[in-house]
Order: sequence, then structure tokens, then C-alpha cells
Amino acid sequence: MTEIKAAITAINGYLPDYILTNQELEKMVDTTDEWISTRTGIKERRILKGEGLATSDMGTEAVRGLLEKRGISPDEIDLLVCSTVTPDMKFPATANLISHKAGIKNAFSYDMNAACSGFIYALVAAANYVESGKYKKVVVVGADKMSSIVDYTDRQTCVIFGDAACAVLLEPTTEDVGVIDHKFETDGAGHIHLHMKAGGSLKPPTHETIDAREHYVYQEGQAVFKFAVTKMADVSLSLLRQNQLSPDDITWLVPHQANMRIIEATGRRMGVPAEKVMVNIQKYGNTTNATIPLCLWDYENQLKKGDNIILTAFGGGFTWGAIWLKWAI
Ligand code: UT7
Repeated sequence: MTEIKAAITAINGYLPDYILTNQELEKMVDTTDEWISTRTGIKERRILKGEGLATSDMGTEAVRGLLEKRGISPDEIDLLVCSTVTPDMKFPATANLISHKAGIKNAFSYDMNAACSGFIYALVAAANYVESGKYKKVVVVGADKMSSIVDYTDRQTCVIFGDAACAVLLEPTTEDVGVIDHKFETDGAGHIHLHMKAGGSLKPPTHETIDAREHYVYQEGQAVFKFAVTKMADVSLSLLRQNQLSPDDITWLVPHQANMRIIEATGRRMGVPAEKVMVNIQKYGNTTNATIPLCLWDYENQLKKGDNIILTAFGGGFTWGAIWLKWAI
């Protein structure tokens, strides 16, 4: 029987209009453009402004453009998976809201949460549906309104994050392209370094939790930094080894965009030259679930069918992993 693979056949991002620059952050917290640029590589990030606008609105824009780009109707979609840490509401799933707003009526939809690794985990989950032969058109959305959970009085985190969404369409192919292999790992012991303290079943919201500013991202930057560098590089190298590939076989490395120094260190540790490493952190900051597809979208014009692409992410959980993808369009 011919093997079915899941190929990305379209990609489309959505970026909110508002640009929050390092210069504006200098006026908000005790920081400098120089510190942010040299320590993170970030120059500016997008912020979703406007009453009543949420993660699903960015996801919906990304999906609308995706369907238009591929020239298909919302009715043709079988499944929509959204990876996010900033759902519009605790429930229902933001994926349900995106489907509703984008007019997708013949699909089921659900959310996945693996923090910054969410998009790559969701991509593999979605690919499995396509590979089963039962699902023909599956949308994966990575979207986060990080500004809704960032404390703009905390200089350690507020300079890093931004808002964005990006969607990909997966379709079956019998060619040697698409999602080929992956390696994912998690370590829940890492939760102490990166989490949100209140708002969950452990510590439901109270006046006290709000006063203590516990509904924001809590991050021990240095601890996360060390893990991120080693884990993204090592899991990617392990994925290459299990497929008898060497770093020379990689056309593009697409690392989660959390910090320019982590991106560069990952490339160095893997032996992948800088010109093969996708980077757009300077423009968007860390958009959590959107970073990896946004890179692919930004570099789309430079991609060729058959390119060997390694997607790699590290995030809260801890979660990390890598996907080997062959570009299909
Ligand atoms: O996407 C999920 C995964 N997340 C990550 O991968 C993030 C990983 N961590 C990082 O990217 C970095 O650790 C940060 C960007 C968060 C921080 O950079 P760092 O080089 O690790 O700085 P640090 O925390 O070691 O702080 C160094 C100094 C401190 O001052 P002292 O104690 O040396 O006087 C901080 O208080 O820099 C200070 N600092 C700042 N100064 C100016 C921290 N944030 C700022 C700031 N502006 N925004």
C-alpha cells in the first residue's frame, strides 16, 4: 500500500498592526534598547490592541487568509487544531471559536497546550490524522496573545513576548515530502522555572492572587536559557541520527524564537551555519505558539520543494522536540 504523508500545502500568518518598540519599553520599565538588543536580539514586537479582541481573532485572520491562498472553501476543512497558551477563555477551546468565526462548519476542532512547543506537537498530531487516510484537509493554528499574560511592570519578561498567529494547511501526499519524522520529550520537573502561578485548579483566582500579580508569566530566565540551548540542539541531532542524516543535509533549521543568543547557540551546537538558520525574532519577539510557522511564512519565498527542514522548539513544561519536514510546495 502506498504510504500517505501529511504535507504543508499553504501557510499564512497574521500580525497585529501595533508595533511595540524597545524605545517605547524604555519608557515603561527600567530597561534600554541596548540591553534588549544585545541580550535578546529583539527590536520590536506586535501587540493586539482593541477591546474584545483575543487570540481567536488573530487565528481567524490567519485561517481566512490561508483558505484564500489555497483557494478552498471553509466547508472543505475536516479538522482544526489550535496550539495556544492564551486561549480566549479557559473553555471552550479557542479552536472552536476560530472555526466558528472562519465559517468552518464540517470540521471538529480542539486546542493543544504544550507551551512554546505547542505548534510542533500539534503539527504531528494533525499529521497523524492525515496519514490515517481519513482526513484530507487539516488546519493547524499557532496563536498567542502573550500581551494578555505579560506583566508590563516586569522588565525580565515584558521585553520578550509579542502577539501573533500563523496557520498551516496539511493535506495528504504520496510523494516523498511532508512531515517525515519527529522526536519529542517532556520533563514536568521543569515547571518550577516557567509557569503561571494562579488561575488554574491549583490556585483559583482570588483578590489576593491578583494583588500578588500571579496571573502573569513567571520565568526564571537563566534556568530556562540553559535548558533551551542544550535540549533543542540535542533533540534535533538525535532526530538526524535516527534518520541517518548529518547537519550538512539540512537546508533550513527553524528554532523557536525565544532569544537570539539561544538561536545562535543552537545552530553552533548542531554545526549548522547561521545562513541556514531562520531568524525573525528581531521583528516579532517571542510569540510562543506562532514563532515557528511565522518563520516558515517569512522565508516562504526562499523555500524549495524537497528542502530538508528541521523545526525545533523548547518551552514551559518543560517540553521540547524536533520535526523533520520536507517542504512540499
Ligand atoms: O519561550 C519559552 C522559553 N523561554 C526562553 O527560552 C527564555 C530564556 N531566557 C532568556 O532568554 C534570558 O534569560 C532572558 C532574556 C529572560 C534574560 O537574559 P539574561 O541574560 O539571562 O539576564 P539575567 O536574567 O541573567 O539578568 C542579568 C541582569 C540582571 O541584573 P543584575 O542582577 O546583573 O544587576 C537583571 O536584573 O540584567 C537585568 N535585567 C535587565 N536589565 C535591563 C533583566 N531584564 C532586564 C531588562 N533591562 N529588560
